[in-house]
Amino acid sequence: MKIPYLPLRELSARFTQADQLAFTDVHLSGRYIGGEKVSQFEYQFANFCGVKYAISTGNGLDALTIILLAEKQLGNLPENAKILLPAHTYIATFLSVIHAGMQPVPVDVTDMLLTVENLKSQIHKVDAVITVDLYGKLVDDAVYAFAKAEQKPVYCDSAQSHGAINKEGKRSGSIARASAFSFYPTKNLGALGDGGALTTMDDELATMARSIANYGRTSQFKNAVKGVNSRLDPLQAVFLLNRLPSLDADNKRRVEIAKSYYENIRHDHVVLPESAFLENNAMHVFPVFVDDRPHFQNYMEEKGIGTNVHYPLAPHHQEAFKELSDLSFPQTEYLHRTEVSLPCHPLLTDEEVIYIIECINNY
Ligand SMILES: Cc1ncc(COP(=O)(O)O)c(C=O)c1O
Repeated sequence: MKIPYLPLRELSARFTQADQLAFTDVHLSGRYIGGEKVSQFEYQFANFCGVKYAISTGNGLDALTIILLAEKQLGNLPENAKILLPAHTYIATFLSVIHAGMQPVPVDVTDMLLTVENLKSQIHKVDAVITVDLYGKLVDDAVYAFAKAEQKPVYCDSAQSHGAINKEGKRSGSIARASAFSFYPTKNLGALGDGGALTTMDDELATMARSIANYGRTSQFKNAVKGVNSRLDPLQAVFLLNRLPSLDADNKRRVEIAKSYYENIRHDHVVLPESAFLENNAMHVFPVFVDDRPHFQNYMEEKGIGTNVHYPLAPHHQEAFKELSDLSFPQTEYLHRTEVSLPCHPLLTDEEVIYIIECINNY
């Protein structure tokens, strides 16, 4: 059996006909930046997330950076603000803070995500918190309650948690003061190129973010702030409009697969994540932790099963952040040393899932 980690072409082929029609529509419209299709996607994505505003951007990194820039412009964050964030994340989270002219203050994670325990020692030293719903699992509500009690705003890097719902029924995108999404093609809601969006309930923040994303423009020839150019193409907007209605069903299938993995993978050297809260998660990535990662990945490859790593080297160990290289985050470093991502996408068949489990149990 041959099971790729993520068959992007096949996943996208489900929308070929709709995409071709949408392409023709945009092509004939003569409107290739902004316009009705972009507004339509923003409206539908905001509705889906249960928020007042979705503002599209060129990518997820920009969405997060623009949230911070807008907060600075509004006077809600100071120049050089200190931003607490999990050490265990993709480097983009760190970069957004730098690009906004602020300072990242990384802390370790518990299991895979930030918890109140991780925040306690640093919360008094920072101006705000960025949570990251890594692997599609929402950061616990207690973290938001704790930060609120400490009067620190929380922004969420939701780049991996499209569609996830918390225990109170709130969607990813509606939990933090503002949230940033990526529509990179491999995401649960992915475009056919780059794309991103930020979501918020706040009128002022939405207006400022929209202006910053568009050169700081306030009207056609007026620029009130020094903005950037970060826009979602109408072409990507129509591809996303075609995919949004399938997101819930896709996530449901991902959760089913994850449940099978949780219930059936049994191997002393293949460690499952501790927290098994799966209902309504986005399950963007199903991680297992294996000491001898190359050996395990080779074994899986021999069995015809593609795996991936999210991620092999933590941001504070990257050359780009050599100023942070003296910091030590044992749990984060363990995750980066041992993580292997198993196939977990909506096209996997039950037969394939059983085969993957059998191969792992026979490792
Ligand atoms: C956790 C996280 N944050 C931010 C990003 C940045 O998104 P993009 O690649 O769209 O800029 C990604 C995806 O790459 C991500 O996984």
